[in-house]
Amino acid sequence: MEYSDFTVEIKKMCNIDLTNYKEKQMKRRIDSLIKRNGHESYDSYIKQLKKSEQHLKEFLGYITINVSEFFRNPSQWQVLEEEIIPELMSNKKRLKIWSSACSTGEEPYSLAMLLDKMMIKSKASIIASDIDKDAVEKAKQGIYTTKGIASVPEEMLKTYFKKEKDKYIIKDKIKIMIDFRIINLLEDVFPSDCDLILCRNVMIYFTEDTKEKLYKKFYNALSNRGIFFVGSTEQIIMPQKYGFLNRKNFFYQKITD
Ligand SMILES: C[S@@+](CC[C@H](N)C(=O)[O-])C[C@H]1O[C@@H](n2cnc3c(N)ncnc32)[C@H](O)[C@@H]1O
Repeated sequence: MEYSDFTVEIKKMCNIDLTNYKEKQMKRRIDSLIKRNGHESYDSYIKQLKKSEQHLKEFLGYITINVSEFFRNPSQWQVLEEEIIPELMSNKKRLKIWSSACSTGEEPYSLAMLLDKMMIKSKASIIASDIDKDAVEKAKQGIYTTKGIASVPEEMLKTYFKKEKDKYIIKDKIKIMIDFRIINLLEDVFPSDCDLILCRNVMIYFTEDTKEKLYKKFYNALSNRGIFFVGSTEQIIMPQKYGFLNRKNFFYQKITD
């Protein structure tokens, strides 16, 4: 079995189409996982994945790369707080926000804490989604380690987390602000009429063709004047091609009027 046959089997088993991900990078990761599991061919590894739920979970966890952190790239969160959100609020009574590859929750919880701090939480709703069920389960629990909360500002840590032994737990008043869902960006229908969409540190894994398709889907999911917030290595090369206006580094706007 070649890598291309392996991708067909994976699509059948878990509806993840690996051909949308950059092949060199993905194949290297998968090949090293297969070796680590003591297999020498895609065939025998596929057999194991079919037999063992545990191995399938490990595989999915490994290919999805869940690394995240609170307020990742703080200077961009500052722009969000000081410019983007106030401007969105000046046009809208309520904001619909979508954190579209939310991993274990750091990104949507950063948003929720920020909205509470800005005293506008009653005027906003947050959807947070990821393809990875285990990551979303962890996100819902909202339990983090000392290392995990390292980038949370001291004031926010005191206000929004309960400390239990060596764990930091997000308080319920923040948890209830978020509607967690499983959404596969490559297959599923997107939420509509969003005023702010975050899609950060996932586009880098996709092929150019897939990125193009996704930019169009994200554009369609935004409301007029809605903002698309991307990761720090994910600037859109020709935003106007998709109808976006480059508002600030890493922030793109849809304008239809
Ligand atoms: C590196 S994390 C980024 C987390 C967060 N957005 C941040 O910037 O810190 C990438 C996330 O993308 C998710 N992902 C990968 N492929 C996806 C897909 N097709 N649909 C939805 N999420 C996907 C992974 O499960 C992972 O949680």
